[in-house]
Amino acid sequence: MAQARVGKKRSAPVPDAVELIVRKRDHGRLAPAEVAHLVDGYTAGKVADYQMSAWLMASLLNGLDESETVALTEAMLHSGRVLELCSVRQPKVDKHSTGGVGDKVSLCLGPLVASCGVAVPMVSGRGLGHTGGTLDKLEAIEGYDTRLDARRFERVVAAVGVSIIGQTAELAPADRRIYALRDVTGTVESVPLIVASILSKKLAEGIDALLLDVKVGRGAFMKDLASARLLGRTLARVGRRFGKRVSAVLTDMESPLGRTIGNALEAREAIAVLHNEGPDDTRELTLDLGARMLLLGGAESGLAAARRRVERALASGAAFECFARMVRAHGGNTRVIEHPELLPRAPVRVAVPAPKSGFLVGCDALELGLVAVRLGAGRLLAEDKVDPAAGIELCVKPGDRVAKGEPMAWLCVRRRSKASPFLARTAAAFTIGPRQPPARPLVLGAIAR
Ligand code: URA
Repeated sequence: MAQARVGKKRSAPVPDAVELIVRKRDHGRLAPAEVAHLVDGYTAGKVADYQMSAWLMASLLNGLDESETVALTEAMLHSGRVLELCSVRQPKVDKHSTGGVGDKVSLCLGPLVASCGVAVPMVSGRGLGHTGGTLDKLEAIEGYDTRLDARRFERVVAAVGVSIIGQTAELAPADRRIYALRDVTGTVESVPLIVASILSKKLAEGIDALLLDVKVGRGAFMKDLASARLLGRTLARVGRRFGKRVSAVLTDMESPLGRTIGNALEAREAIAVLHNEGPDDTRELTLDLGARMLLLGGAESGLAAARRRVERALASGAAFECFARMVRAHGGNTRVIEHPELLPRAPVRVAVPAPKSGFLVGCDALELGLVAVRLGAGRLLAEDKVDPAAGIELCVKPGDRVAKGEPMAWLCVRRRSKASPFLARTAAAFTIGPRQPPARPLVLGAIAR
């Protein structure tokens, strides 16, 4: 059965786009049928980009209430197909991160959770602004096809337990188009618009439950805990209106996650985590989110038992095995993941030396994300191609001792001239102080289902 529509009334005549823009501009509210009319009109090409942009800006400035947010989510969800994944027998749980720097967790987490008996149908995105994208990381693996159609996606989820693909034209196409507009009209940072964007594409996957990793800090869209908590709560509340179990964790994105930023570099680090190695923060976040997904999927009833189960799956190699099966099912070359040294590698590495000795107090995720994009790891224009080998390797993490002249980071590039303009900017992203800073917690809060 298709996803139930929430609060739909479409009989009364609906005002045109201009009236709806003016109403929102003047702090009015739209009925669910009016929101649906706008989104349907936009998807059908009857509402112009500039009209949708104006409405989005009015919504960002004046807000959408919960009923408007639910209506927007629903209209975007039903702008395309809503999968049911009937052939998948296991509970189906996905995770979505609101976007960070160095966040390669999806690559390890999907296979980890699937190896514990909970299916993970995951529709992911590409890099956006300064944040990286799971699809770009997976495509660093030779042959990995992120563009499976809905039938093959379902077959892979049923056979392997996990599949990670990109948003197709079939799934929530309104989100794809509206997101592209928001990206270039300064309308990303709005809680209701983010909620509708995330939930519409995630609900289209046919999941039973969703875990949200709401990033907080310099490198995140939500810069402070209060706004992250508001986003997490709204996501959970609106998600439940669609009959899904939804919980959220608020996690630190003040500094990058792990020790690498850039697609092949991050794929290599994710593979290390799947071998029960890799940086502590990345491994810890993978295990923490994995345990919460087992709870959401009903595979365990307590967090401690769920945690032990994901630890065992990582240590036994079951999670890596599952990753290898997923890569094979997507046409990827599994030799590359068995020998990660075969992943694309930048021919030139340029050191960023520490200007003085001391302790690393801060490492600005936003700045490092922006530099990584300019080195070629992300896109400045939607049509840009990413360089899978480009990126940044971090030699130090907050709390580490640094010695003057020793590298704090390596810029990985095709040629030295690509790195030179960014050496000073990268160095300025590191703050060195005389005293070791207190350790920052990785998980800052949780909003339970
Ligand atoms: N991620 C999304 O998918 N949508 C947003 O609006 C923001 C982050």
